[in-house]
This record gives sequence, C-alpha cells and structure tokens, in this order.
Amino acid sequence: MADHVVTSYAQGDALLKRGDLRQALYDAGAILMERVLVNLHGAEHRTRRSAEARVFRRDIFRHYETTVFPVTLDQTLAPHLAAGETDICAFGYAVMMNLTADFTGIDRPERSAEETAALLAILRSLGKAPTLGTTTGDRDAIRAEIDAALRAFDARFYQPSKARRQALLADHAAGRIGEDDLPRDVLTAILETPATAAEPDEVLMKEAAFFLLAGAFTSIHSLTHAVHRILEWFAAHPGDEAQLRGDLDFLQRAAWETARLHPSSPVTRRRPVAPVEIEGLGRLEPSDTVTVNLMAANRDPARFGPTADAFDPFRDTGGTPLYGLSFGVGAHACIGRQLAIGVLPREGGGDEPRQLGSIPLILARLMAANVRPHPEQAPQMDTVSGRPNWASYPVLLGEGPRP
Ligand code: HEM
Repeated sequence: MADHVVTSYAQGDALLKRGDLRQALYDAGAILMERVLVNLHGAEHRTRRSAEARVFRRDIFRHYETTVFPVTLDQTLAPHLAAGETDICAFGYAVMMNLTADFTGIDRPERSAEETAALLAILRSLGKAPTLGTTTGDRDAIRAEIDAALRAFDARFYQPSKARRQALLADHAAGRIGEDDLPRDVLTAILETPATAAEPDEVLMKEAAFFLLAGAFTSIHSLTHAVHRILEWFAAHPGDEAQLRGDLDFLQRAAWETARLHPSSPVTRRRPVAPVEIEGLGRLEPSDTVTVNLMAANRDPARFGPTADAFDPFRDTGGTPLYGLSFGVGAHACIGRQLAIGVLPREGGGDEPRQLGSIPLILARLMAANVRPHPEQAPQMDTVSGRPNWASYPVLLGEGPRP
C-alpha cells in the first residue's frame, strides 16, 4: 500500500489523463461522495457526465451570465453594500451558494433570509465531506453532522425541487409546455435522461448535494484568495490601481492566476484499476495510490519559470493554461470551469462577447464597490479543514479612502 507523490507538472498532467487510474481522493468522504460523478469510473462515469454535460453549454452559460447572475449578485450584495463592510468569506458563501443552487436546480421558493441561512448551514456541514480524510476534527461527529445535513437537504430542498421538475417534464412529454419552458439546470438534465433518472433517489439526492458543493465551495475559496491577491497587487502597484479596478481582462487573468497558486484541492489522488507499470513510478497495485500535488505542480519552475511562486496575472504561460492543473485534466476535468472563470479573450478577437465566469464577475462588482482592506480587523486563515484557505476576510465597501 504505497502512496507515490508527484510534484512535477508534466508528470501530474500525464497521470490525470490515464484511463487506467481511478479516483481515490474521496474514500474517507464516502458518506456523501461514494456514488457522485467525481468518484465514478469508466462507463458509469461517462453516462452520468454526458447527461449532466448537456447543461454545460456556451448558450446556457451566457443565459446565466447575462440574465440570472446579475440579479442574484445584486440581491446578495445589497445588504453588505448598505452596511459598508462585509466578510468576503461570508459574502462568498451566500453568493456562490445562490449561483450554484440556480445552476444545480435547487429551488429556494421563499427567498427569505431564514431559507438562505438553512441552505447555507447544510452546505457548510456537507463541505466537511471532501476533507474528512485530512480534517483535524472528530471524524465520527463530523459524519453524524453530514448525515443530518443530508436528511435536511433531502426533505426541505431536494424533494420539492425534484417534484417540480418531474411535473414540468410530464407537462413537456404531454405537449402542454415547450422545451424552452423547462429549467436549464443539472437536476432537470438528470431527471430527463432515462439512464440517470433510473438511479436510486438517494444517489440522485447526493449528486445534487455534491454539485452544490463542487460549484460553491471551490469558488468561495478562490474568490477570497483572488480578492486578497488583487488587493496585495494594488498595494504593490499603486499607480495601476485606478485603471485595473475596472479592467475585466485584468480581473479575469487575476482569477486564473489565483486558481493556479491556490488550487481548491491542493492534491488529487488516483489508484490503478489493475496492476500497472508507470514510467517514473514503477509497478503499482490496486491497493497503491498516486497523489498529484496540484499546489506543487502549479508552482513547478520547469513549467512556470523561476517566478512560479509569484502572483503575476500578466505572466505568459505559452500553451499551458494560466490556471495550471487547478481544474484537473482528463476524464474528471472540472465540468464547471467555464462557469467559474470563463474564457480568456482570443488574440485578434477584438470586443467579441465571451464568457467571463462568475468569479471575475463578482470581482468586478466588488472592485466597483470600492472593496478595500478592513483597517481594524485582520483576515484569519482556516485551521480546521487542513486546507490553506481563508476562514474570514473582513473588508470595507462603498465610499471612503483606501488605506
Ligand atoms: C474555482 C472554481 C472551481 C475549481 C477550482 C474546481 C476544481 C475542480 C477540480 C480540480 C476537479 C477535478 C477533480 C479530480 O480530478 O479529482 C473538478 C471536478 C468537478 N467540478 Fe469543479 N471546480 C470549480 C468550480 C466548479 C463549478 C462552478 C462546478 C459546477 C457548477 C463544478 C463542478 C465540478 C464537477 C461536477 C466535477 C466532477 C467532474 C467529473 O468527475 O467528471 N466545479 N473541479
């Protein structure tokens, strides 16, 4: 039972593209993760992914960016703007949860503060599942907390959301409503596809919960790291600040560069489905694992040069994506990447419309709201999950001088 740790970008990239290695990162989080997309392999994975991929289309992304996100973003930001300050982590939880719930297909019919708080509490508990393997907390207590959160999610959010979609799909099948009247979200896609709709309800409920997590948790941490890195950049380049605050290309590149330096999952792990010989690692048995250290691979000087550790949104990475391996590659490559960070402008593409991604859009809104460091409250790192993320990041918003 050996674990081989890989820190080189080239080797990590090649390993994640192999079809004979399967997911091994979430064994400890089985209570939620066992049958969700990121843990499936081979034909089972392809069936589920192709059903869900129907929602991850350019026209649907544009619909969300132009129609759904701006409303949700303004509604979520309004009370923080009025208060003149916020905690980017707390704001990130609320906004990302709302955006991802829309995309996943989890209805919040009341739109009340109590309802948002209830779903947020569920999400915070479920968020402990992927890190059960690295947590410093009491594992049995955390498992009980996750189970209670799943039951609450099922009763209050999943069952009503599913029932509403099933009724709409029945109306559509009977010709009472058209294709355009169906919600464009993951849950509808799953229920509309016979192969996925036939899976046990418990599995589909956990898939929906996992989507909320995969979309919201990752993006929350990336957003906070990006705000921190950008404010640091402004402090070091005060002459650029006035112009760069409103520069969408800069903010998007900053989000990509932040993703490289702060992968939401610092490592990912695989195990062979059968004994295999791997160049550079030797012979591996199914009981062995390979850990790809994404944090180290993304700072590999062989790929990113001698300044690999530095935050530089203007860095030229040639053919390598600026976000490195942070969204994975191969069969499990992140299905929501474009939704989160969009696509960079094409050379010679002029002002053609492109997808910006939810994180750059939120950054643009925060920059326009004059986000700046809180002069009295210092940000704090998370010391519980075992991941190097911010636990709290107080800032000021609105009128006022920047420190
Ligand atoms: C900053 C934001 C995000 C980051 C850093 C991120 C990162 C990742 C990574 C590293 C993987 C691959 C895991 C592996 O290979 O073991 C992954 C997979 C996945 N991501 Fe994301 N993600 C982000 C946003 C999103 C969003 C917005 C969604 C959905 C709305 C999403 C849904 C998924 C799903 C469903 C998978 C599993 C894909 C599969 O196994 O086929 N992610 N993500």
